[in-house]
Amino acid sequence: MGCCCSRRYFEAEAGDAIKYRLIHGRRYHNLSNSMYFVANDDEEAYRLSRYHDAIKDIWGGLFNSPVEEKLRQGTRVIDIGCGSGIWILDLAQQYPNSNFVGIDISPILPTEGLPPNAKFVQYNVLDGLPFEDSSFDLVHLKFMVGAITETQWEEKVIPEMIRLARPDGWIESLECDLITSNGSVTKRVAKAFHVFMTSKGLNPAIGKEIPRLFENTNAFSEIRKEHKVLNLGKKHGKSAEESLKFYIGGLKSSKGFLANSMNVMPEHYDALIETVTIEAEKYSTYFNQYRVCARKKI
Ligand SMILES: C[S@@+](CC[C@H](N)C(=O)[O-])C[C@H]1O[C@@H](n2cnc3c(N)ncnc32)[C@H](O)[C@@H]1O
Repeated sequence: MGCCCSRRYFEAEAGDAIKYRLIHGRRYHNLSNSMYFVANDDEEAYRLSRYHDAIKDIWGGLFNSPVEEKLRQGTRVIDIGCGSGIWILDLAQQYPNSNFVGIDISPILPTEGLPPNAKFVQYNVLDGLPFEDSSFDLVHLKFMVGAITETQWEEKVIPEMIRLARPDGWIESLECDLITSNGSVTKRVAKAFHVFMTSKGLNPAIGKEIPRLFENTNAFSEIRKEHKVLNLGKKHGKSAEESLKFYIGGLKSSKGFLANSMNVMPEHYDALIETVTIEAEKYSTYFNQYRVCARKKI
């Protein structure tokens, strides 16, 4: 599936200065109840869309919950924090009998040329979502580690996912953590990233904790967990090269907050991130991804 060409992103409007803020040339949200620190501009939408094919390759598909048959026959799926919407668009094309909805706070949702079975709405999951209880057979969420504090996972997001899932339906999450490397600059950047995230109540290793958070709810009859260690860099193949690009892009998209938090000038930050890329090809650099699927009790 191609990236973004047929999309028109939300254009600047009067009042955008209230909704968004520009820092070091990148656009960020301005919501008071969200800790999300990654840019929400076209460059970020491109980064998210570009990683889609590599994710399919790494995980052998777009989901692991056993909902294939239901998708063929016709059901409803929601993707929370859908970003550029590419996951929804891909599935909507594969399963024309099913209906898909993507929600996100960022104004990067696709608005044109949508298939009739895909819909996108700008919502904040932390405010609760305007969908009825038990209305989806698959409630999906991916790469929200930088968006949801551990308390918000427990008190808002997981309960909301459970509310939206049908009895015997599935909720599924895929998360990554911070990079680990032998490179000294990469270590410094990863440490700064860790300090910054924890200062906001965000747990960089939440992916590993999600099965426990799911178990604590007592809402599931079955929980499936998978874990992958992803080596980064060209020398490990195409998906590893894309994973590195995705990660480096994430660091670039976080510049507005991370450069300030590291107390470095924006141009010095760019040079540090360049070095992280170079170190990844030289030393062992990896991150983890965690996928969890849970079946809601009947
Ligand atoms: C790293 S991106 C991942 C996007 C998409 N899931 C993917 O895998 O490509 C995180 C997304 O979560 C969205 N997000 C952050 N906080 C949110 C919130 N409170 N409610 C809804 N979406 C949110 C961001 O706008 C961003 O698009």
